[in-house]
Amino acid sequence: MENIARINDVSSIDALEKLRAELLGKKSAISEGFAALKEASPKEKAQIAAELNRQKTELTNAIAAKRAELENQEIAQRSQKEALDVTLFDAFDRGGSLHPINRAMEEIVEYFLSMNFEIKTGPLVEDEFHNFEALNLPKYHPAREMQDTFYMNDGLLLRTHTSPVQIRTMLSEKPPIRMIAPGAVFRPDYDLTHTPMFHQVEGLAIDEKGAISFANLKHILEDFLNSFFGDFPVRFRPSFFPFTEPSAEVDVGCIFCRGEGCRMCKNTGWLEVLGCGMVDPNVFKAVGYENVGGYAFGMGVERLATLKYRIGDLRSLFDGDLDLLEQFR
Ligand code: DAH
Repeated sequence: MENIARINDVSSIDALEKLRAELLGKKSAISEGFAALKEASPKEKAQIAAELNRQKTELTNAIAAKRAELENQEIAQRSQKEALDVTLFDAFDRGGSLHPINRAMEEIVEYFLSMNFEIKTGPLVEDEFHNFEALNLPKYHPAREMQDTFYMNDGLLLRTHTSPVQIRTMLSEKPPIRMIAPGAVFRPDYDLTHTPMFHQVEGLAIDEKGAISFANLKHILEDFLNSFFGDFPVRFRPSFFPFTEPSAEVDVGCIFCRGEGCRMCKNTGWLEVLGCGMVDPNVFKAVGYENVGGYAFGMGVERLATLKYRIGDLRSLFDGDLDLLEQFR
């Protein structure tokens, strides 16, 4: 029957209700048929009424069946759309947080940006020239042993420090230069305080000869360390790096014992935190710079982060340990 087909074709409950009004409502053919019964003869009356009732029942049943079908469809769609896994743990209201290394990195970078340093980057896979030779570390020079290296084929290696970014920047730009190079570096070490991948921030300031002094270097590093660790004494110790002359290592007064002497500072009262110096003339020679001078420094982000956040085992920062990481929320 045509009306049954129309009912089956309907695709929404609203449309079904409209069709119900049309087929069974006051103005429907069936209602009119019932209204016209009084004109019929008693014999026809029973026959017509039986037929009208049969049709009415048929339509009513078809509409009810269709309605149930549409309602089930709607429930299925909604429960798919609004599905909620009540067995899921409450990962969603924990929120995320910066990894302590990123946090320390951001803080270091922010400081130097505020001091007008520009960020520079370089490749993680370097060559011997940028990573060693141009930094006054010729082949077979004993100073290369200061840095164990992951070597690859074709004279390539994983950069052992961020210092090659100095070289790349000086080769591609003219002084004055005032840059930092934050990034990952690699060395084959693994113990409480070393991981094979770690992060450094390199710094370099170059201008015409005589414009930048060791005092400038000393001032900015002291100011940085006081802003990073708080109010602790800072000292510069003569040291050696092939790419700087003179060179110094910088210590902060032990933030654990305030200089009294403890396990963390090996009873010296001082914590070594970075290396620096005035750029060695051989470095300028390698990049073709003349009549310039300046300073460079390099710091280990993990070293600074583990001290500041008092993390005993550096390796734990790379274990994805939620209990540890949640303490930095
Ligand atoms: N490149 C050195 C290292 O990885 C760190 C460093 C020390 C960088 C002194 C410098 C510097 O620029 O002047 O151990």
